[in-house]
Amino acid sequence: MRLRQSAHLRDLTAETAFTAAHLIQPLFVVEDLGEPQAISGLGDNLRLGMTAAADRAARDVEAGVRHFLLFPVPASKHPQGRSSHGPRAAEAIKRAVGDAAHVWVDVCLCASTETGHCALFDARGQIDLDATLEALAGMAVSLADAGADGVSPSDMMDGRTARIRAALDDAGHGRVPIMSYSTKFASQMYGPFREAADSAPQFGDRRHYQIDVRSRTDAIESSRRCAAEGADLLMVKPGITSLDLIGPIREATGRPVGAYQVSGEYAGLTLLAERGLTNFDAALLETWHVFRRAGASYLITYGARHARRLGMPA
Ligand code: PBG
Ligand code: ZN
Repeated sequence: MRLRQSAHLRDLTAETAFTAAHLIQPLFVVEDLGEPQAISGLGDNLRLGMTAAADRAARDVEAGVRHFLLFPVPASKHPQGRSSHGPRAAEAIKRAVGDAAHVWVDVCLCASTETGHCALFDARGQIDLDATLEALAGMAVSLADAGADGVSPSDMMDGRTARIRAALDDAGHGRVPIMSYSTKFASQMYGPFREAADSAPQFGDRRHYQIDVRSRTDAIESSRRCAAEGADLLMVKPGITSLDLIGPIREATGRPVGAYQVSGEYAGLTLLAERGLTNFDAALLETWHVFRRAGASYLITYGARHARRLGMPA
């Protein structure tokens, strides 16, 4: 029932039409930021301070956006990735959009830890899974306390969906849905995002916890486990390079499966257009139709605020 409780959630997972209601607009909310800052390749997706982000969200709602995915970026790093900026950002954006939109917030540690990794490490330099899960669950609860309508764990740690679900339920947030980044690959396509979130790993890479693109079985199993742990919405990421998995994951889980058209994919379209090699709007719409054709229930895209201008129904 969790996914049937509001028109925002029902429209998000409706399967017979593809409309602006199926799109999710990411928003980077940067702590203590003065002037907005451009992000390479992401066009009008800027790094914004709290007030500017709230204004942007309010205008986006006017343009038809029904779902946001917030990426709170703290001003300073912390050894355990602690920050009160996330809840403050969730509260500010929720206040700006009210009931007109559903506000999802990304749950991860990489924007707030000194290491830039999506995990905490023990004294031997290994991932400290229990401490990481504890931190992620605490983050999810404080975001829900602050008014986030949904949480979206993107860390890829084993067992995080179950841990977050249990913590939310214990805190009285049984109605808050989880949109898990359930099939997330290690990828070269996250470059502009890491610039925007200041979240590039300071050593190594993320192949210890993100999925290897050659591993189809692991990719499907990862989503299946997330579903079994209580994820309401599943996701493949990057989008275009994961199209073949959307159908199989839906069949294996019976859950709605969305796609994340990630920063590198979007930047690819922007840069082609800047070089005069493609029509940006038409190319963007083309990719959206393909996601739908592949069976994506919903789509996270940096172009969601342009849906109406591109002719998508509300
Ligand atoms: C962090 C996170 C990433 C993205 C969403 N959450 C980057 C990463 O895993 O390095 C990528 C989104 C994008 O590229 O648009 N956990
Ligand atoms: Zn992360």
